[in-house]
Amino acid sequence: MELIDREKYFENKEKMMYFIEKNLHKYGNELALILELALQYDLVLNPKIGIPSSLSQLFSKFGIYRSGMDMYVEFLNLLEQHSFLEGNCCEIASGIYPRLAKLAAPKIHMKHGSLTLYEPRILFSKLDHVQIIKEPFTKETDIDAFDTLFSIYPCDVTIPLVEKAFEEDKNLMVAFCSCDHSTKEHPKWFGKYWAEDFCLDYKEKYNDEVELIEWPQSVHLTLPIMVRKSTKYKEKIKSKI
Ligand SMILES: C[S@@+](CC[C@H](N)C(=O)[O-])C[C@H]1O[C@@H](n2cnc3c(N)ncnc32)[C@H](O)[C@@H]1O
Repeated sequence: MELIDREKYFENKEKMMYFIEKNLHKYGNELALILELALQYDLVLNPKIGIPSSLSQLFSKFGIYRSGMDMYVEFLNLLEQHSFLEGNCCEIASGIYPRLAKLAAPKIHMKHGSLTLYEPRILFSKLDHVQIIKEPFTKETDIDAFDTLFSIYPCDVTIPLVEKAFEEDKNLMVAFCSCDHSTKEHPKWFGKYWAEDFCLDYKEKYNDEVELIEWPQSVHLTLPIMVRKSTKYKEKIKSKI
């Protein structure tokens, strides 16, 4: 079944193109041209052509996905199921239009928590209940204040993000992208995706500390999602039993 609701897509196509044009300075000429062509010629309706993240964010914002097929909504549900939308949260690599942060911020705020976001290319300088840091997240970033780190498709920052969560005992939920981020320490072995091999290496190293979960079937994504729970989180759960 198609991920996109065609009726809503055609209803909102012009609005999405206008949004990109209005924010050309953020998207940049090259990316804006690619996105506009994809919309102009309806390339996104071809199941053989993937939907780039920058368009996924807009499809989610404009309600183009069919019910159960919006990755941002489904990832938010996973965060909620793990009680990760509490305390001090940090989203890494939100993308130009921070769709997940937009969905998560009100929920975190309602539970008296906080949301900080690291993304050098973000469109906004202000977002309700979110502290935006327009800088790259690195191994040197101070994460002492955070309980939970999360990200969808962190791409280039995948390795530092995961390493820091384990080294500094943080909750983590990360949905891996399909790119190959091989390094000498984390090479690609035999999996279809580098992420699969990376997850297996981590599982071997950290055993039960690593939980690997899947996207709901409705999202049609076979990429892994890694979950880690901090000592503080586990103690809180234990004290509730
Ligand atoms: C594939 S996009 C994913 C965007 C978004 N999470 C989504 O799924 O819609 C990867 C994003 O990672 C961001 N990024 C790359 N390196 C980063 C870093 N060191 N810190 C924070 N964000 C970074 C890029 O700017 C880009 O927006």
